[in-house]
Amino acid sequence: MEKLAVQERVRNDRSIPCSRRRWRGPGLLRVPGCLLAGGIVALAAASIGQQTQNAGEDGVRQYQNMTPEQRAAATRQFLGLGAVPDKAAAARGAPVYQGNCAFCHGPQARGATGPGLITSDEVLGDDHGEHLLPFLRKGRPDKGMPAFATMPDEELRDIAEFLHLQVEEVANRGAYRVLNILVGNAAKGQEYVVAHCMSCHTAETFAHIAAKFRSPDQLQRAWIWPSRSGDERLAVTAAVKTADGPTIAGRVTQVSDFRITLVDGAGQTHVIDREPGVDVRMNDPLAAHQQMILTLTNDGMHNVTAYLDTLK
Ligand code: HEC
Ligand code: HEC
Repeated sequence: MEKLAVQERVRNDRSIPCSRRRWRGPGLLRVPGCLLAGGIVALAAASIGQQTQNAGEDGVRQYQNMTPEQRAAATRQFLGLGAVPDKAAAARGAPVYQGNCAFCHGPQARGATGPGLITSDEVLGDDHGEHLLPFLRKGRPDKGMPAFATMPDEELRDIAEFLHLQVEEVANRGAYRVLNILVGNAAKGQEYVVAHCMSCHTAETFAHIAAKFRSPDQLQRAWIWPSRSGDERLAVTAAVKTADGPTIAGRVTQVSDFRITLVDGAGQTHVIDREPGVDVRMNDPLAAHQQMILTLTNDGMHNVTAYLDTLK
């Protein structure tokens, strides 16, 4: 029931005519969706104001006096958002999601050839993967949603956290943006980088890295999940040997347990069913880096970002 409020809030982002919106929300917060759209801050304040039995100006003043963290928590409570997403797991899940789901559901799960997942009942009905894992294992192959039967549990769980974070970022907008992500310890971050990153990188990778990004948030995203766009060196490629045909090589644009799509050097697209006898050799330049990301903890992530942010 509470999660309906999120759906409603998100749906308000789209321009559904006011008259067609339904009345929704738990208990006291039963308000028309069209009011929610503009009045989110005041209403979040009102929800906090409940503690003081005063949902008026006092509530607004209280909200304004809150720290960004308190505001985010209050907004989360108001929106009826579920469990707090595990950010390190979401960061680990990001590349897995990008590699397996993004071409159909969009890079931020807002939809592409497949539906957006931000308002999906399957996603909103899940806390930490209990519901999504069985769903993703089976998929809905008849409707074009592949089954991810062979993907390891940990990766599926990380994808679930990634999806929850996307919902959070859409629904709890504003509150999130002001949260300071530079909460780590730079000295510990430096130790972490020396211990965990220098087997593959040199100081050159990190020289002035902070100067390349507008915000610590972007810096963090970039080191955890380097962007492949505009950098051919980082593209995922594959050589696919079909049972009776030639070997086709190219850049991978889609891959699932059942099918792989390649764009070859001449720009031609090949869609190949992964039938028995079809041999797929993938080459992901970021595979080693992503392997490292699987061991990342929340503290490690915050400390490394704090350290890299000092390298202007
Ligand atoms: C080849 C395209 C494709 C890929 C790849 C794909 N999906 Fe889907 N997905 C779909 C389609 C199409 C649907 C809608 C199915 C339907 O109409 O019931 C869907 C439905 C879903 C739903 C349910 C939405 C709802 O509420 O009905 C979820 C959740 C989902 N996908 C998650 C994922 C995740 C996570 C991945 C990656 C591990 C993924 N999908 C990969 C095409 C895809
Ligand atoms: C097992 C090897 C490995 C480890 C360990 C590793 N990476 Fe990477 N990383 C790579 C590879 C391979 C690439 C892609 C090729 C390149 O750009 O060097 C990459 C790319 C990057 C990029 C993008 C560079 C660019 O030019 O776009 C950053 C930033 C980065 N890694 C940061 C880190 C940080 C921070 C750590 C430690 C917390 C780390 N990496 C640990 C292998 C690794």
